[in-house]
Amino acid sequence: MTMSELKINQRLIMTPGPTMVDPRVSQAMSNQILGQFDPDFTDIMNENMALIRKSFRTKNQWAFPIDGTSRAGNEAVIGSIVSPGDSVLVPVFGRFGDLFVELAERAGGKVTTMTTEWGTVFDQDRIIDEIDRLKPKVVAIVHGETSTGRLQPIDRLGEAVHRYGGFLVVDAVASYMGTPVEVDKWQLDAVVGGAQKCLSIPSGITPITFNDRFAEEINQRKRVEQGVRTATDREGRNFITSNYLDLTQLQDYWSPRRLNHHTEATVADYALHEGLRLALQEGLNSRFSRHLKIHRALNDGLTAMGLSIYHAGDHEMPMVTCVQIPEDLDGDAFRAKLLRNFGVEISSSFGSLQGKIWRIGTMGYSAQKGFITNFVALFGAALLQSGISVDLKAGLDAVEAAFTTPKQTLKTLEV
Ligand SMILES: Cc1ncc(COP(=O)(O)O)c(C=O)c1O
Repeated sequence: MTMSELKINQRLIMTPGPTMVDPRVSQAMSNQILGQFDPDFTDIMNENMALIRKSFRTKNQWAFPIDGTSRAGNEAVIGSIVSPGDSVLVPVFGRFGDLFVELAERAGGKVTTMTTEWGTVFDQDRIIDEIDRLKPKVVAIVHGETSTGRLQPIDRLGEAVHRYGGFLVVDAVASYMGTPVEVDKWQLDAVVGGAQKCLSIPSGITPITFNDRFAEEINQRKRVEQGVRTATDREGRNFITSNYLDLTQLQDYWSPRRLNHHTEATVADYALHEGLRLALQEGLNSRFSRHLKIHRALNDGLTAMGLSIYHAGDHEMPMVTCVQIPEDLDGDAFRAKLLRNFGVEISSSFGSLQGKIWRIGTMGYSAQKGFITNFVALFGAALLQSGISVDLKAGLDAVEAAFTTPKQTLKTLEV
C-alpha cells in the first residue's frame, strides 16, 4: 500500500489547548538534531533551565522540562513525592482535580478529596480548615481548571500546608504563561506548567519546578537504575516506582552528572527554547495583560451577539471562555460542522458540563485580535447557519470596541 504525502489543512484552533503555534517556534523545530550529550545541546539544556526559572519567576535551582505531555509532569511530581500510605488532600473542582486523585491513588497515597460544584472555586479558608484537620503530607491542587474555566486562588495554601511540614503541589498547566503563578511568593513546593497552552508550543514537553525542601524529600526515595549506578548511589527506602518519571534521576540528568537516563527530545527542547524566549521577550506582565484583554474582548463580543457566558465574571480563567450552548442545539454536531465548514476548532467539556458548554481558548499565540475577530465572525456565521439567531454585527462591533475604547489600566491578576 502506498501512502500519500501528509496534507494538513488550515485551521483556526481556538481550544484551551492545543493552540496555534508561532511560526518562529516551528522554524526552530526544523533545525538539525543534536546528540543529547553534545556540548552544544547541553548548553541549550542549561539555557532552558534558566528560561524555565524565569518563566516561573522562581529562585528554585530545580527547573527543567519533563519529556511528555503535561500529565507526565503531574505524574512525575506525584509519583516522586507520594509514597504508599502517605496522606494526600485533593480539592476537586473539575476534571483535572480528578486526575490528581487518580495519580495519587496509583502512587499508593491515602487520598482525601473535597469538592465544590463544577463552575465554582473553593474559598481558601475551607481548604485551610481541611489542612488543619488532616495535616496531609501533600496537598495537590489545580490552579487553572481548564474543564470548567475556573481560576482557583491558591496564594494562602502554602503557608497552611507548611505548618505541618507538608508539600503543596500545583497543576498550573493551563494558567502558566497566561496569568501570574507566583511560585516563591505563594510558597508553592512543586509546580507543573504546560506547553500547548499559554506557552503555545506543540505538546510533548512539560516545564516543571520544585524547591530544595521538595528535592530533599524525594531524594530519600532515590534509586539509580542498575546499568548506570555507581558505588556511591544508595537505594532509598520506598524507592520511586516509575523509572521514566523519576524526578531524582531526572535531576541527575539535568545537572553536571548528566546521568545517562533517557534520550532527550531535542526538537521539543528547541521549541521550548524559542517559545520561552519569545514569551520572556514580550514580558510576563505584558503577556498576562494581553491574555486578560483578549479574554474580555471575546466575552464582550459573544455576549453582544446574544450568547451567555457560563458563570461570567466568577473566577474565570483569563484564557478560557465558557459559552452556554443555546437550547435545542446539539453542541457536538455544531462543533463538527464548525470544523468541517469553517476550519475552526473549539472544545466541549466533561462530566456534568458535557453538552452544556463550549470552551473557547485564547491562549498564547491564539490570543490575538486578528484571530478572535475572525473567530467571532466565523462562529457567528456558523450559528446563523444552524438556525440560531445571533447578532453578528453587534458581536463584531463589541470586539472592535474592546480594542478602540480608551485603554483602562488592567488590574493585576493576582488572586
Ligand atoms: C489543567 C490541566 N492539567 C493537566 C492537563 C493534561 O495535559 P496533557 O493533555 O498535556 O497531558 C490539562 C490538559 O488539558 C489541563 O488543562
